[in-house]
Amino acid sequence: MNGFYPEAEADLGELAADDSEAISLLRLHGLARTADDLAAGLREGEWLTGARVDGRLVGLIWARLTLCSDPNGPVVLIQQVLVKKSARRHGIGRRLVNSVLDGGRSRGARLATLRMHPQSQRAQHLAFYGSIGFVAGPEDDVLDIAL
Ligand SMILES: CC(C)(COP(=O)(O)OP(=O)(O)OC[C@H]1O[C@@H](n2cnc3c(N)ncnc32)[C@H](O)[C@@H]1OP(=O)(O)O)[C@@H](O)C(=O)NCCC(=O)NCCS
Repeated sequence: MNGFYPEAEADLGELAADDSEAISLLRLHGLARTADDLAAGLREGEWLTGARVDGRLVGLIWARLTLCSDPNGPVVLIQQVLVKKSARRHGIGRRLVNSVLDGGRSRGARLATLRMHPQSQRAQHLAFYGSIGFVAGPEDDVLDIAL
């Protein structure tokens, strides 16, 4: 692996709860989750999708579908998208988000939403999610996209 990741070379697929690379990547970004935590989340409807290049994990998305009986149907909540620094700006983050949006659509969701934090990364998040089509939601730090 030489640090160059053309978009076409990343393979996307569901991650197992005990994927050690996923647990390390989450931990690197301050999200301490054990395999048991992740397994519990997957049982409750969370998604963990990874992007691999040459078999090694370079990014992941962690999201869930609300199970509540909202009259507008289930909503996709994007909890975290992470791409390793060396793999950024090759479209991998966008592909991960779009895979979750497609998954939500096929499960009847009409809306995907996320909360931007921390404040220090707001401009980057606006640029990234805005490029995918998210727009400001009803709350100040929330971004939405209709599916
Ligand atoms: C945000 C993040 C997931 C983006 O991943 P990525 O693979 O680099 O994103 P993409 O290459 O798919 O970018 C798609 C578009 O988003 C915009 N974008 C992405 N990163 C950007 C940045 N740092 N500054 C400005 N625009 C940015 C660009 O328009 C980009 O298209 P372009 O490269 O053709 O100009 C990655 O930077 C990351 O892991 N950051 C740390 C964690 C984080 O902040 N996660 C998001 C909040 S949950």
